[in-house]
Amino acid sequence: MEGRAGLVTGAASGIGRACALRFGEEGAGVLVADLESARAAGEETAAMIRAAGGDAEFAACDVALAADGEALVARVVQRWGRIDYAHNNAGIGVHAPLAETSDEDFDRVVAVNLRGTFLGMKHQIRAMLANDPPARGAIVNTSSNAGLRGVHMLGAYAATKHGILGLTKNAAIEYADDGIRVNAVCPGAIMTPLMSELPPDRQAEILSPQAMSRPGDPAEVAAAVVWLCSDQASFVTGVAMPVDAASVAGW
Ligand SMILES: NC(=O)c1ccc[n+]([C@@H]2O[C@H](COP(=O)([O-])OP(=O)(O)OC[C@H]3O[C@@H](n4cnc5c(N)ncnc54)[C@H](O)[C@@H]3O)[C@@H](O)[C@H]2O)c1
Repeated sequence: MEGRAGLVTGAASGIGRACALRFGEEGAGVLVADLESARAAGEETAAMIRAAGGDAEFAACDVALAADGEALVARVVQRWGRIDYAHNNAGIGVHAPLAETSDEDFDRVVAVNLRGTFLGMKHQIRAMLANDPPARGAIVNTSSNAGLRGVHMLGAYAATKHGILGLTKNAAIEYADDGIRVNAVCPGAIMTPLMSELPPDRQAEILSPQAMSRPGDPAEVAAAVVWLCSDQASFVTGVAMPVDAASVAGW
């Protein structure tokens, strides 16, 4: 990824932070994007990358807002001259049975997870089309094992994570011959605040379908994300890659 530049959303924490660190380690410029309310942690991610010899800065955004999706891309292009990769990773979950999910919670999960991914991809693809062929750019979206099957109490979340795979596949086929690759990762239970802040019995329930009975480390997702963005994955596009210790393989 030496000499490349791009962005990671939700990079103040968890999987996004691990991916941002890994992009930085691999020599890429990183725009560390997250909510204004997460600025301190986001600045910390950027500082960690710089301390390790990388190149990064923080940008506040709300991925649910169209103007922010566009502004993030513009900032990467302004700072590094082009955008080569993007990791649309910011996401939220609401834990409730479907019939008890409020309309407001449903709309918020859709706005952040699904609309946010759509808005990000739209502006990233437009900017990548300005790059020289043949390999103009690579996008990785964070779906979930809940993008490949249902997960109890995560109906709204699972709907958005399935939807992210639809966006991923469509963009992959529409822009393949333009030299833009679009893939998704589908993590299993990864030990981040999204998991660790849940009650222990709920954590155990989410972990139970995994064949490996340990939670994943965010760095284990980052390895897949950065590989998918690299030239090593030059013939890989449109995939929904489980990084999930066999949780969708069967249980
Ligand atoms: N942790 C898991 O077990 C797991 C499993 C599968 C998928 N995922 C997905 O991985 C992604 C990252 O999750 P995580 O586990 O690292 O969670 P996390 O809560 O540690 O990090 C999520 C980050 O997204 C940011 N964010 C939330 N809403 C935002 C918005 N509107 N605009 C910009 N940033 C926003 C948060 O501030 C936070 O820093 C999410 O899409 C999540 O659904 C996580």
